[in-house]
Parts: sequence; C-alpha cells; structure tokens
Amino acid sequence: MVGVSSVTEEIAELKKSRKAVILAHHYQDAEIQELADSIGDSLELARVAQNFQGDVIALCGVWFMAETAKALNPERIVVAPDRGAGCSLVDACRVEDLRAWKQRNPDHVIVSYVNTSIDVKAESDILCTSRNAVSIVNSIPADKPIMFLPDMNLGAYVKEKTGRANMKIWPGACMVHATFPARRLSKARADYPNAVVAAHPECPQDVLRMADFVGSTSAIIDWCKKSSAEEFIIMTESGVRFSLERDSPGKKFYFVANEQCNCSECPYMKMNTLEKLRDALRDLQPRVEIPADIIARARIPIEKMLAVK
Ligand code: 13P
Ligand code: SF4
Repeated sequence: MVGVSSVTEEIAELKKSRKAVILAHHYQDAEIQELADSIGDSLELARVAQNFQGDVIALCGVWFMAETAKALNPERIVVAPDRGAGCSLVDACRVEDLRAWKQRNPDHVIVSYVNTSIDVKAESDILCTSRNAVSIVNSIPADKPIMFLPDMNLGAYVKEKTGRANMKIWPGACMVHATFPARRLSKARADYPNAVVAAHPECPQDVLRMADFVGSTSAIIDWCKKSSAEEFIIMTESGVRFSLERDSPGKKFYFVANEQCNCSECPYMKMNTLEKLRDALRDLQPRVEIPADIIARARIPIEKMLAVK
C-alpha cells in the first residue's frame, strides 16, 4: 500500500508539472486542507478561482464549486477528486422545474444560492452565497418580487434580516444542516454552559434563534478568532475544526450531531481523498466540461454576485 507521505509528494510534483492550484473548502478532511494553496468558503473559493493564474484548478469541495470555478476559467482545466460529490441542495432544484416556474412567474428576480447546478445558474439573475446573501437581496430594488432558491432555511433567515415581504422561497434543504435539532443544541448548551454558539444559516430557524452568531463557514471561523469566549458550540460541518484550531489555538470547539447521520459530516464533501486528488491531477479527470453557451449565461449572475461588495 502506498503511504500517505508518498501520495503527498506525488501531489506536490504533479502540482508543479501541471501548473496547478489546489483549492479546498473548509469541509474537506484535514489532510487535504493541509495541502491546499487556498482554503475558503464558497464565496472565497469563487474569488480565488476568478483571479487564478496557471493551467489547472483542482477543486476539493463538491461538484457545483468546481463548476463555478470552470465558468470563471473556461480556458483552463478544472478537475475534482470525485464526480459523485454532489449536494442535496443542488438536487432540490431541477432546471426543468425552475424553467416552468419562471414561465408562470416571469416578473420575479431569480436569486440562486451557489449550491445549484450550472444549468440553474444559467437561468438565474444573480447568485449569492451564505456570506453575501443579505447584501445580494438588499441590492435588488424593493419593488421587484424575488424567488430565492433553493435553501429554505437560508431563505427564511435572509427574509427576516432584510424584511423583504415580496420574497418567495424554494423548498430545498441541506441534508447536513437542516437535520441539526434544536433539542440537541439545548443539551450541548447545558453540557457546556460557558460556550457561545455559532451556526451556519442553512440550519433550521429554531437553531438559528438560539445562536449568538450566524454566518458562512469562513465568517464563523473569523468570529471565533475575534471572540473573547474560550468555548464554542459550532453548528456546521466538522471540517471547520481545521481552521478553527489553527486560528484560535487553546480555544475549545464542540460539534453537535445531526439526525441524518448522527454526525456532523457532509457525506459528499468527505468523498474526496488524497489518492483521488492525486489521480485527478495525474489523469486530469474527472474534469468539468460545460457547453460554451451555458458558461456564457451562467457567468453573468456569477459576476454580478462577485461585483456586490
Ligand atoms: P459556505 O458558503 O459557508 O462555504 O457554505 C457552503 C456549503 O455547502 C454549506 O453547507
Ligand atoms: Fe450541500 Fe449540505 Fe454538503 Fe454543503 S453540507 S455541500 S449544502 S449537502
């Protein structure tokens, strides 16, 4: 069996010979994050992909993130360790259903979360991530009705924050965050009375109401670093532990198990391994291929989002 250190060396060599950059989402296993040139939330990864110089991007996250990187780099090769790394939110909004909805509601501005397929992005007016969703919705004139898709928990959170009455919400959910139960958070609060709570906005509303801070993965990591608290209950995927412990040495982080897997791991994110990353850099497969017309249409809402401060 090939040892981890030699796989790591192979990846380093392939990275050089391929003029590649490795981008990793915070939910990746620590051994992948350790090798990455850049670690971030979905917005940061899209920004890094937008400004990248080189020939190959190896995107370690889930497939929609690799598609976004490809749309911003049509002339470059974008690979991902595992083609099967999907997302329950992507599955919740099929492009045919969105097209049919738009036909019935042609006046609505379509605000799509980045956790959507590239085909859905091509049908959207503007994108958002969990980090910028409130600013994106606020950037749309108040008299325009909105369809926010496909995360109902993020949508409800944004609706409350913006006070936007004319906003409809698609009924999709993240299989990891939407199944964090408030009663398990209450138990964790009782177990760790000195801890404060940070939650991702994909969590249910009753969980978000109990949180001291709500934000994207990177925003949670920054908030914990700046906080004077010493103990934190973290309501998101446990891969963030890597950056939390790097940025906040000595502080304590507790994770709550969800009802999907009785854990706090995204099964899609965890499909990626060092061996699959090595193979992707060596074989340049699985490679993201998107028809030119879809890239041209999807880039418009992606770039609109990236232009909003
Ligand atoms: P972030 O934008 O916070 O990285 O979230 C991505 C995601 O898939 C959360 O489940
Ligand atoms: Fe999708 Fe949820 Fe996994 Fe994020 S954690 S990639 S939203 S299934």
